[in-house]
Amino acid sequence: MITMGVNEIREAYLRFFESKDHLKMDSFPLVPKEDNSLLLINAGMAPLKPYFTGLKTPPSYRVTNCQKCIRTGDIENVGKTSRHGTFFEMLGNFSFGDYFKEDAIKWAWEFVTEVLKISKDRLYVTIYNEDDEAYEIWNKKTDVGASRIFRLGKEDNFWEIGQGPCGPSSEIHYDRVGIKVNSVEEFIKAQEEDKIIEFWNLVFTQFDKDENGVYHKLPNPNIDTGMGLERLATIMQGVNNIFEIDTVKNILEKISSISGVKYKNSEKSDISLRIIADHVKGITMLISDGVLPSNEGRGYVLRRLLRRAARHGRLIGIKDAFLTGIVDEVIKMYKGAYPELEDKKDYN
Ligand code: ALA
Repeated sequence: MITMGVNEIREAYLRFFESKDHLKMDSFPLVPKEDNSLLLINAGMAPLKPYFTGLKTPPSYRVTNCQKCIRTGDIENVGKTSRHGTFFEMLGNFSFGDYFKEDAIKWAWEFVTEVLKISKDRLYVTIYNEDDEAYEIWNKKTDVGASRIFRLGKEDNFWEIGQGPCGPSSEIHYDRVGIKVNSVEEFIKAQEEDKIIEFWNLVFTQFDKDENGVYHKLPNPNIDTGMGLERLATIMQGVNNIFEIDTVKNILEKISSISGVKYKNSEKSDISLRIIADHVKGITMLISDGVLPSNEGRGYVLRRLLRRAARHGRLIGIKDAFLTGIVDEVIKMYKGAYPELEDKKDYN
């Protein structure tokens, strides 16, 4: 395996799918358009829903992008665990009625093993219980090996988020510690112990779920894949924590230099440093997408992130307004991928 920075991984992914005839699109803003079911974009496929359902014609039937996402459901865990964050980037390749399972699986395997060069003896895949077609493709068209394919139920390998396009999925997992699991029970246990982590979800989008929870078969099956860039970066950089990957580490160091509080000094101050790093990333991205603090909706999400970041700043002893210096560091880290950050710099 090779070591790669966050910006390098993003580039490699988009280039790979461009070489498979995908149109590279910019990230959509975090604020959804014409979608009342969502407050903020929370997955790569969310802004693409009208292309999946056939409501709109896509600019290409194969698309790839790196989408800015925010999920605040687990905000209380941010900073306390190794993998919770509010803002994250999702790498994705999408087919709107064009290629389906076979190409999605073969290309995912090619990218992981030949571009990222992740060792095959560290990889596992899971599929939806009833998805014999996915099993056959993994088993016959890739060299993952039958002993590394496990079948799981709907809660693990069927993807849906609110209303809209959804379907059975197949996930690729990384063994962080070098254990060999031999049964689905051992696999689940290793996952619970954080020894094996999921990093790429391939969704075979076949249904459209309506507001009453009824699944309608889509006229064309689609592909929606999502790979959390921060999580993948932990694998590619051999670190245990999304706060230790290169870009986020630089933001943490900036907060340390402003506050004079070193990372790895105490668990309590580390939690505050991590919360500030995560939240300032989210704040910067939300403001550059036009969100303003308010008492409701997405403005409230922003206000909450601002208040929590400020509170944790005070907890580690920062007395003055300090967010601007950190925002500058976030912009420096991410402006290559998101030029709007530089254009809207004065909003922050
Ligand atoms: N839409 C799928 C996810 O977010 C790929 O995991």
